[in-house]
Amino acid sequence: MRKQIVAGNWKMNNNTLETEALIERLIQHTLPEEVQVMVAPAFTQLSQTVNLLKQQPIMVAAQNMNAADSGAHTGEISASMLKGVGVHTVILGHSERRSLYGETDRLLQAKVSKAIAEELDVIFCFGEELHHRKENKHFDLVKEQLSSALFNLPKATWIQIVLAYEPVWAIGTGETASPEQAQEMHAFIRQLIEDQYDANLANQVAILYGGSVKPSNAKEIFSMQDVDGGLIGGASLNAEDFMAIVNAF
Ligand code: PGA
Repeated sequence: MRKQIVAGNWKMNNNTLETEALIERLIQHTLPEEVQVMVAPAFTQLSQTVNLLKQQPIMVAAQNMNAADSGAHTGEISASMLKGVGVHTVILGHSERRSLYGETDRLLQAKVSKAIAEELDVIFCFGEELHHRKENKHFDLVKEQLSSALFNLPKATWIQIVLAYEPVWAIGTGETASPEQAQEMHAFIRQLIEDQYDANLANQVAILYGGSVKPSNAKEIFSMQDVDGGLIGGASLNAEDFMAIVNAF
């Protein structure tokens, strides 16, 4: 049985007071035992969030990380800094990092390798833009993104990887992929892993869907065979909406 995961990506939202208020509401909810719940605050709120969630079954992830150990990288954060504040999971490859900050598949390969070597778990994001889908190149693009950043990894390290398929045209737009479109891509991704590694691994890797998941559509999306949960942006900023999604399996 694969892990079911719902992760909230808070992006550049929630200052200290807002973080406290949101967590206070989140922890009033009882979580379903079989779902792993995570939140990913901004770097400045990581310590605060780790502390506030210490006694809770909600994990804390970072939204990004630099591939270098240390040194002249103004404004960047290293793996050991994340671990130092009690964070053991990092989101890498988010489409906003790719499109707004120029992160390439090659750079992401370095980041993923570093995170794995530092024993961090990785939520690896990828997905096509609208024009790729219109030109029917979305499968090729996803294959390329996964091959360049992940398919060099030894099989044993995949225990540290969660995949998040996020079609760029569905992120923050209110437009979601249909459950069938999500399922089709997730099944394709699983097949790629089987081709590269084996069926056993392909069946074990959790593949999340992201892109305008809301309480109103989560159930339908999560009911798809190869969808193991979601990476939630906008709706994760509201405790009740986020918890409705957590309970949508
Ligand atoms: P959204 O964001 O839920 O607001 O579309 C998802 C994401 O960026 O991970």
